Amino acid sequence: MPFSDQPPLDRATAAFSAHFARDPRLLAAAPGRVNLIGEHTDYNDGFVLPIAIDRRTIVAIDWSRTATTRIHAADLNSSAELTDLKSLRAAPDLAQDVDNNRVRTGSWVSYVTGVLSNLAAIAPNLAARGVELSIATSVPLGSGLSSSASLEVAVATAAAALAGVSIPPRDLAALCRDAEHRFAGVPCGIMDQFIAAMGQPDHALLIDCRTQAAELVAMPGPDRAVVVVMDSRVKHSLASGEYAQRRDTCRAACRVMGIESLRDATPELLSRYTPDVGSSGGLSTIEFARARHIVSENARTLAAAAALRAGKLDEVGRLMLASHASLRDDYQVSCPELDTLVDLAARVPGVFGARMTGGGFGGCAIALATPAAADRLVREIPAAYRARHALPANLDARVFITSAQSGAGVLA
Ligand code: GLA
Repeated sequence: MPFSDQPPLDRATAAFSAHFARDPRLLAAAPGRVNLIGEHTDYNDGFVLPIAIDRRTIVAIDWSRTATTRIHAADLNSSAELTDLKSLRAAPDLAQDVDNNRVRTGSWVSYVTGVLSNLAAIAPNLAARGVELSIATSVPLGSGLSSSASLEVAVATAAAALAGVSIPPRDLAALCRDAEHRFAGVPCGIMDQFIAAMGQPDHALLIDCRTQAAELVAMPGPDRAVVVVMDSRVKHSLASGEYAQRRDTCRAACRVMGIESLRDATPELLSRYTPDVGSSGGLSTIEFARARHIVSENARTLAAAAALRAGKLDEVGRLMLASHASLRDDYQVSCPELDTLVDLAARVPGVFGARMTGGGFGGCAIALATPAAADRLVREIPAAYRARHALPANLDARVFITSAQSGAGVLA
């Protein structure tokens, strides 16, 4: 989708004034993210290492003057009205986004209304008064940079502040994830909402998704290494169905091994369930490969956090490449376009490592690179990528340098 050059703050504010004929009472922001390593581990109670990035979603908000809730997405030029935040339901087969307080599962409105509905359950004034809000974002939509979590967390931050309820960031993340499950119909883990709510400038967060403990891990100084995002501009349609299938396969593997989650699996335990050993009671070939990815990815994530702390960027890069190979071969969530981006980046001197980031089947790859190598990626990747994949004329890979930023907040 085309993105205006105007900052999202200006667009959200202008859209609010245009639609609701006054200035917003307050503004809130929440970032997108890239995950440095630890992919598909969050819903297996494992470890992830994301950063919040400098692309963000802005929500401008005020109380409604009529008790009807009105929401407007400036980037989509689309609006919706809801008369009762307490009786909202999501339904998959609606012909339109909103129909009589029901919202179509997975529509942009469903992300917003899921959050408002959850908040209205704990903030009676929200349910009674309704809100007017406008949204604009600089997080590319559907690119695996978590535009949806940044939308949910921005709406939650804005509406909670307006309603005067203070929600601890972990609870806010959980409330948003629940909205994504029930309204958007995506059975995601906690990583995206967690980092959108709790990101820290210049640091990655090593999150233990079982205990929800988070440790700060300092990023290298920008003179030494930066994170480069390479957006493939493709999104393969099987993404959401495959995501749910991966979750189910992981659960099935746990049942076979008699453990609660794959977090509890070790290489030794896995070796007892190798498909060719177990004539009965073993894992299927697919279950084994999926479980091997989770077990090895958890180990890589902890090792990468330690290497980052020790300034061993070659080691971080090696682990990123190994993570990509495991996602490609064992977990099978990569695609040719992401493999190309990783391959092209890894050949450039000064690139420590590269991998796909997020759910996969399109979206973005990232590289950790020296500043000089990063500039080269920005300049050279689009043409090199186009030479290998037939892309529509206006869809060159989008390559940009990013850095670790803070999580959601109300703007002064
Ligand atoms: C998506 C989900 C996250 C996580 C990643 C894969 O981004 O929203 O919860 O599972 O995929 O690591």
